[in-house]
Amino acid sequence: MAKSFMFIKILHFFNNHKSNFINTFQLSETIPLINFSSTNIDLKIMFPYTESLRSKNMGTVLITGGAGFIGSHLSDRFLKEGWDVIVLDNLLTGSSNNISHLIGKEKFKFIKYDVTDYLFFKENIDLILHFACPASPFDYAQHPIHTMKVDSLGTLNTLGLAKNKKARYLFASTSEIYGSPEQHPQKEDYWGNVNPVGPRSVYDEAKRFSEAMCMAYFREHNIDIRIARIFNTYGTRMRLLDGRVIPTFIHQALKNQSITIFGDGSQTRSFCFVDDMVEGLYNFATKDGLNGEVVNLGNTEEHSIKFLAEEIIKLTDSSSDIINHDLPEDDPPVRQPDILKANRLLGYSPEISLSDGLKKIIPWFKERKDG
Ligand SMILES: NC(=O)c1ccc[n+]([C@@H]2O[C@H](COP(=O)([O-])OP(=O)(O)OC[C@H]3O[C@@H](n4cnc5c(N)ncnc54)[C@H](O)[C@@H]3O)[C@@H](O)[C@H]2O)c1
Repeated sequence: MAKSFMFIKILHFFNNHKSNFINTFQLSETIPLINFSSTNIDLKIMFPYTESLRSKNMGTVLITGGAGFIGSHLSDRFLKEGWDVIVLDNLLTGSSNNISHLIGKEKFKFIKYDVTDYLFFKENIDLILHFACPASPFDYAQHPIHTMKVDSLGTLNTLGLAKNKKARYLFASTSEIYGSPEQHPQKEDYWGNVNPVGPRSVYDEAKRFSEAMCMAYFREHNIDIRIARIFNTYGTRMRLLDGRVIPTFIHQALKNQSITIFGDGSQTRSFCFVDDMVEGLYNFATKDGLNGEVVNLGNTEEHSIKFLAEEIIKLTDSSSDIINHDLPEDDPPVRQPDILKANRLLGYSPEISLSDGLKKIIPWFKERKDG
């Protein structure tokens, strides 16, 4: 009786402190930390166990959300530069197709796992990139609580891991933290204008909370953290129907369906090609001496949504017309990054224009338009 009471108390304590536990203690390997049940990936090639990762080339990077759109392109880049890459992803909005070309590579590991659960790694980890999070407005509307968990518990878990492993940490924040901006373009020192209870708040506020948590770990534990505020990025490996404007318009244009614009299309966005984004993120993550820095990354070329629709119709040689729907609540009227700081610290200067970027990705979407 006394024994079982004690056990319950220990269990209770562990549950209340599990994120701390996981980051400060090496948990027993018998705990089933990896769930493969819904992947179709061959386990034998997925874990070609390497000895000490730290002894090799550039070290080891853990990329949460690495099977998603940006995360998978980052995985490619870090592998190309000689890093060992561990991708942790629960495939909620990502896909094993995005990393299938990496499976079996000696320096690559994929772990299907939810970052909001406690984390355990035997390996040394030198760098953590926390990218897990539903990112399209459609996805976070579908998964509002999950979105808040991944950018609160997930951030806490990964920051704890960074503390434990003495790893550098880069957080994937967003231009959405500026909300409906009263300052244009948006500089890093602008505090934003966010509706804390609107439909987008699950994403915006979770990202703002994560930023605050990163700064708390930086100030209290001296963790080398960096916050990248990512502006609209597009490229291959976005889901065709993920609700984001570029894949949606391309899909509609390729099928000669009406292109649906929310509002009158005069709202503006600045779109960054994924290669330019990865360049900025890679340099921000790997350059020394940027502890505690917050940096906007994106392309300053700004266009109205109407222009985007017309450009896509032209480039796909489509017969689509344009129709207008009601503007969703809290849709920001303008968005453009001020990237002077990124340019000063990283020499960051995106090179690919919207038209050139669209030309690069349309064939990829064409191949998948019926899939
Ligand atoms: N793409 C953009 O334009 C953009 C703009 C600003 C910020 N960001 C940020 O960049 C990151 C990546 O965005 P993306 O566009 O590649 O989106 P994405 O949806 O393609 O990728 C997110 C990945 O996170 C994974 N994930 C979600 N919840 C998880 C969990 N609990 N545990 C483990 N994995 C989980 C998903 O399965 C997916 O693979 C996100 O944090 C997003 O907020 C993206």
